[in-house]
Amino acid sequence: MKLTIFAATGGIGRQILKQAVAAGHDVTAVVRNPKKLSRQVRVVTADLAAADPAVLESAVDGADAVLSGLGPRSNSEAGVARQGTRAIVAAMQATGVRRIVVVSAAPIGTVPSPGRPKPPKHDPGDGFFMRHLFSPLTKAALRKHYADLALMEDILRDSGLDWTVVRPPRLTDKPLTGTYRTAYGQNLRRGFLISRADVAHYMLRVLAQPETIKQATGIAN
Ligand SMILES: NC(=O)c1ccc[n+]([C@@H]2O[C@H](COP(=O)([O-])OP(=O)(O)OC[C@H]3O[C@@H](n4cnc5c(N)ncnc54)[C@H](OP(=O)(O)O)[C@@H]3O)[C@@H](O)[C@H]2O)c1
Repeated sequence: MKLTIFAATGGIGRQILKQAVAAGHDVTAVVRNPKKLSRQVRVVTADLAAADPAVLESAVDGADAVLSGLGPRSNSEAGVARQGTRAIVAAMQATGVRRIVVVSAAPIGTVPSPGRPKPPKHDPGDGFFMRHLFSPLTKAALRKHYADLALMEDILRDSGLDWTVVRPPRLTDKPLTGTYRTAYGQNLRRGFLISRADVAHYMLRVLAQPETIKQATGIAN
């Protein structure tokens, strides 16, 4: 497939790039700092907080699918997920590219946003520990980050595109296993961890699974 990978220098983005190249896909990598890329692929340079629409259109034009590992490097960069995703969506709409897969986070199913003002109070996949201890703590610590991801998900739901949102729990740098659990619209019971490599694996796998279109999916070990 012809794939455009945004944030291909991030933890998940690097894994998507590596696995996509290994699988023989024709890849365009969109990054803000091309010096961080070690692979020989077509590169487009763009800061997604202030991207030139024409540059993004040239990056996605003709792609079979777009994958994004975009996210803030720090809490102070929160906002880039919605800004960047809005710009990517606009470029896809302008060029007629339909399929997009992005990374969000496990708690977002219960984070209110203008598009989902009354989400469920608890994720049906979360057990007692997650519901009453871990989730409230991380939501307080990462409030801006999660609001950004919830708005990113709103943008995709309103886009008319063929989107899939992947919502991982805590990420690790463990090796690729290709063995993990997934669930539509909810988290996985006792699913506290997943490797970046396995998230990337799933993001590529859903490209061949039309039933994942317009789904937010939980993933975990
Ligand atoms: N950490 C966790 O445990 C966890 C758990 C659940 C969900 N998540 C979500 O998963 C996302 C991806 O995780 P990760 O570990 O792969 O993150 P990461 O390593 O921090 O990668 C973030 C990527 O976004 C890029 N980026 C940020 N701002 C940008 C901008 N203005 N323009 C262009 N690119 C920009 C970064 O580019 P540079 O390489 O140039 O900095 C990097 O490629 C996180 O951001 C978070 O929302 C994380």
